[in-house]
Amino acid sequence: MQGMPSNDQIMKALEAVIDPEIRKNVVELGMVRSIDAKADGVVDVMISLTTAGCPIRNHFVDAVQESVGALEGVATVNVAFDVLSDQEKGALQQRLGGGALPDGALAAVANVICVGSGKGGVGKSTLTANLAAALASEGKRVGILDADVWGYSIPRMYGLGATRPPVSPERKILPLESHGVKVMSIGFFVEEDAAVVWRGPMLHKALTQFLNDVAWGELDYLLVDLPPGTGDVSMTLSQLLPQAKFIIVTTPQDTAQKVARRAAEMAHKVSLEVIGIIENMAGFTTPSGERFAIFGEGGGTELADELDVPLLGKVPITMPLRAQADAGTPLVFEDPDDPAAQAIRRAARGLIALTPSALPMLQAVVPEPEIKVIKPSGMSLPMA
Ligand SMILES: Nc1ncnc2c1ncn2[C@@H]1O[C@H](COP(=O)(O)OP(=O)(O)O)[C@@H](O)[C@H]1O
Ligand SMILES: [Mg+2]
Repeated sequence: MQGMPSNDQIMKALEAVIDPEIRKNVVELGMVRSIDAKADGVVDVMISLTTAGCPIRNHFVDAVQESVGALEGVATVNVAFDVLSDQEKGALQQRLGGGALPDGALAAVANVICVGSGKGGVGKSTLTANLAAALASEGKRVGILDADVWGYSIPRMYGLGATRPPVSPERKILPLESHGVKVMSIGFFVEEDAAVVWRGPMLHKALTQFLNDVAWGELDYLLVDLPPGTGDVSMTLSQLLPQAKFIIVTTPQDTAQKVARRAAEMAHKVSLEVIGIIENMAGFTTPSGERFAIFGEGGGTELADELDVPLLGKVPITMPLRAQADAGTPLVFEDPDDPAAQAIRRAARGLIALTPSALPMLQAVVPEPEIKVIKPSGMSLPMA
């Protein structure tokens, strides 16, 4: 009479179950949560997925049933799912990343916030520069990593010229500082207007260096100004920084469906959590008080609803916001009462409400709560 296969044999069989996205088997990926082989030919297998709404569940059900069901003595295979904790996801991404940061590289940075968008020219850099200013005004220690290696603009917005950052005796690059904000940009290293051709590995190396070889020191927030789109930089950063969160910048006119899908796809692809939306260029008010919705209305709200995350702010068009960016002092420092500056300051307070203040290293090793379900109290969100 045949017996049941051992857990090792079942595990061996599960090596045939491939995650179609990552293209590695579930055993190698550490996604087999539990195996329970009962005497009556029934085997329960629990698989851990990266996201709860994983569209490829059915694939796993079929593949697990096929591979385990083929073993001698197995009559029924039940497949159940749970979700990897943030820690486990982080570990998985580090393992897959290959170029993961060494331990402790950003140990003193409490929150890494990537500012991204589906397309260019929506005001990502302007908002990054001013969000940093607003966070600094709230007493936070802030750094900006200008990861837009093709169209870096943070140095100009912070009045930082072509100074090369100094190197410390420990051979770390020291970020330049302006208005109390630490800044690092490829713009400090290349000649102005020089066209840099980035190939994948080089880009990966440069970003790794910016995170690992820069002496960021203790920061409450490191804001990362992403290049437009959903390409290489986002992928690299998500591998290097599995704990990073995304803020998506949109304009009011983008049809929510289109942008939402692209933004959500990006977040899903790189497994980073979208923490909130900021709508930029949300109307223009004339000195006499007449308001024009130059770029339409509602895109930010729709996108926030679609992704089920908070709308952190609606930033109007004001001339000083643009003028101060060109002049090298973010508007939030120069005129915090300007309507655009006010909206950005509100968004920064919203961000503070949504992010832990303690270093992740110092927190107990419990899975972080799903941030998007937390309704921050005492925070004024401009959506209805
Ligand atoms: N709310 C706004 N009001 C006025 N000008 C803005 C606003 N947001 C962005 N700009 C201007 O629009 C241009 C593009 O913004 P930028 O931040 O460089 O976009 P991105 O980084 O997304 O490409 C800049 O000249 C900037 O000063
Ligand atoms: Mg930019």
